[in-house]
Amino acid sequence: MNKQRDFVLVYINGKRREIRGQQAFLTLSDYLRLELQLRGTKVVCAEGDCGACTVLSGPVTADMKSTDVDYQAINACIVLMHSLDCSQLISIEGLNQIYPERLHPVQKSMLDCHGSQCGFCTPGIVMAVAGMLEVPAKLTEKNARNYLTGNLCRCTGYQQIIDAVVNTDISDYKAAKTHFHSDSIHAELVTAAQTPVSVHYKDNSFIAATDISATLDCLQSQQENTDVPQIFAAATDLGVQISKGHLARQNALSLHLLPALYEFKITPEHCSIGARVTLTQLRSRIKQQQAEFSDFLNIFASPQIKNNATLVGNIANGSPIGDTLPFLMVMDAIIVIQGSQGIRRCNINKLYSGYRQLELAASEIITHVEIPHKADGAELKLYKVSQRRDLDISCVSAAFKVQFDQHNILIDAAIAYGGVAATVLRLTAVETMLKGLHRDEFSSPEKCQEIAASIGSSLNPLSDVRGSDNFRNTLIENLYKKFIHEQKAEQIAGVCDEN
Ligand SMILES: Cc1cc2nc3c(=O)[nH]c(=O)nc-3n(C[C@H](O)[C@H](O)[C@H](O)COP(=O)(O)OP(=O)(O)OC[C@H]3O[C@@H](n4cnc5c(N)ncnc54)[C@H](O)[C@@H]3O)c2cc1C
Ligand code: FES
Ligand code: FES
Repeated sequence: MNKQRDFVLVYINGKRREIRGQQAFLTLSDYLRLELQLRGTKVVCAEGDCGACTVLSGPVTADMKSTDVDYQAINACIVLMHSLDCSQLISIEGLNQIYPERLHPVQKSMLDCHGSQCGFCTPGIVMAVAGMLEVPAKLTEKNARNYLTGNLCRCTGYQQIIDAVVNTDISDYKAAKTHFHSDSIHAELVTAAQTPVSVHYKDNSFIAATDISATLDCLQSQQENTDVPQIFAAATDLGVQISKGHLARQNALSLHLLPALYEFKITPEHCSIGARVTLTQLRSRIKQQQAEFSDFLNIFASPQIKNNATLVGNIANGSPIGDTLPFLMVMDAIIVIQGSQGIRRCNINKLYSGYRQLELAASEIITHVEIPHKADGAELKLYKVSQRRDLDISCVSAAFKVQFDQHNILIDAAIAYGGVAATVLRLTAVETMLKGLHRDEFSSPEKCQEIAASIGSSLNPLSDVRGSDNFRNTLIENLYKKFIHEQKAEQIAGVCDEN
C-alpha cells in the first residue's frame, strides 16, 4: 500500500501546494484571500448564493485519464481545502497567466460591453463564463443565462453581462485546462489519489482511505472511541454550516479516494449512481433514462453547486425540502448501504424516520443509489415551487407517476410531496384511491377536485419563512390539479399527433 500523506495536495494556478494543519480546514476563499493574498476572488454571501467567489476546479481521481478531467466553476466560499484534495484550481489571477500580455477574452468583452460597474461581482462572473467555455458551451443567450444562474450583480444591468458573454471573441481561445493541465501534474495528482491521507489540526481531522474496508474500519474504530467522523462529500450543505460558524469542529471522513464511488452504470433494470457522482454529471448521464429528472435538475441550485454537490449528499442530508427526494421516492429508488456487516439495500421510502433522521448507522455509508427505469408507458411529472425560479429552496415540491394499461385503467400510481412535513412523504392512501380508475374518470374535473381536496386534508404543513401553512395547502392542491391538467393536455396532443 502507498505511504500515507499528511497533507492535502492541490495545484493552484499551476503551482503545487501541500496543505497541512489548520490550512486544510479553511474554506478555499479564505485560503486564497488570507493565506495566498489572492484577493481577486471576492466573498459576499459566504453561502454559495451569489457567485462572487467563483473559481474553477478540476478534480482528479485514482483511475482518471488526463483527457477526462473537467474544469468546472465552483463556489470557493463554502468548499473546504481538504475537500479539494487532488484538484487543480484556477482563480481569476490564473486567467492572467493564460493571457499575460492582454486581458482574457471574457474580461475584454465585459469591458467592451459595459458589463461591470462597481466590479465586485465581476471576477465571479468572468470565472463562471470561463467555466462555460471549458465545457465548451456555445455562447448563446440561453446558455449565458443558464451558466450565470449562480451569479448575482447588484449594479450592472444583466443585459450588458449577457451581451458580454455572447460577444466574447473566442477566435484564439485558450482553455484553462489546456494551459494548466500538464501530463506531469496529472500523473502526480493520480498518484496522490492512490494514497491515503490523514491531516489533523487541534481537534479537527480529515481522513480518506483508498479502499472501502479501510474506510469502514475507520468509521467503526472512531465510533468505538465515541468520536464518530462525519462523511464529507462536496460539503455544499456542510460548508454553509462551517462558513456560518454553526459547525465549529471538522471531524471529516472523505470518500474521494474510492474510485468505485465515481461510477455511473446503466443495467437493464436501473441506473446505478455512485456516491461521488456530481449532480452535473448525473444530469447529463441520466438524460436518456430519466428525462424528466434530468430536466428538473435545471432548477436545482446553480451550476457552481451542481458541479460539486452529489445526489447522495442530498439524500443523506435528509431535508424535507431536498429536491431529489420526491422523484426518488416515486421511483422506489434503492439506497445501497455498506457497513462492517456487509451491504444492505434499502428502499428510499423506508430511509427516513423523522426530521433529518435516517435509518443509517453512524458506521455505515451510502455507496450507491439505484434508480429503476420507468416502466413502458409510465407518466412522470416533477414540480418545485419556490419564491424565485433559479437558485432557491423549495417551498413545496411534488412528484407524480402514473401508469395505465391497454384498457386505460390506472394500474400504478405513486405520489410524493416535499416541504409538507418533517420528511418528504409518499401518499400511499391517495395512491390506493387512484388505482383502478379509468383514464376518463381519473382526468375528470370532479375526480381531480376530489383527489386534490383529499391530498390537502391528509397533509398538515408548517408555516415558515418560505410560506404559511395556508399557502402551502393551496400549493399542495394546485400542484395535483396542475399535474392532471398537464397530463390531460399531453394526452390530447398525443391523440392529435396520431391523427
Ligand atoms: C447555494 C445553495 C443552493 C442549494 N440549492 C439546493 C436546491 O435547489 N435543492 C436542494 O435540494 N438542495 C440544495 N442545496 C443543498 C445541497 O447542495 C444539496 O443537498 C447537495 O446535494 C448536498 O450534496 P453534498 O455532496 O454537498 O453533500 P455534503 O454537504 O457533503 O453532505 C450532506 C450530508 O450527507 C452526508 N453524506 C454525504 N455523503 C454521504 C455518504 N456517502 N454516506 C452517508 N452520508 C453521507 C454528510 O455527512 C452530510 O450529513 C443548496 C445548497 C447551497 C449552498
Ligand atoms: S460569496 Fe457568495 S457564493 Fe460565495
Ligand atoms: S458590478 Fe457591482 S455588483 Fe455587479
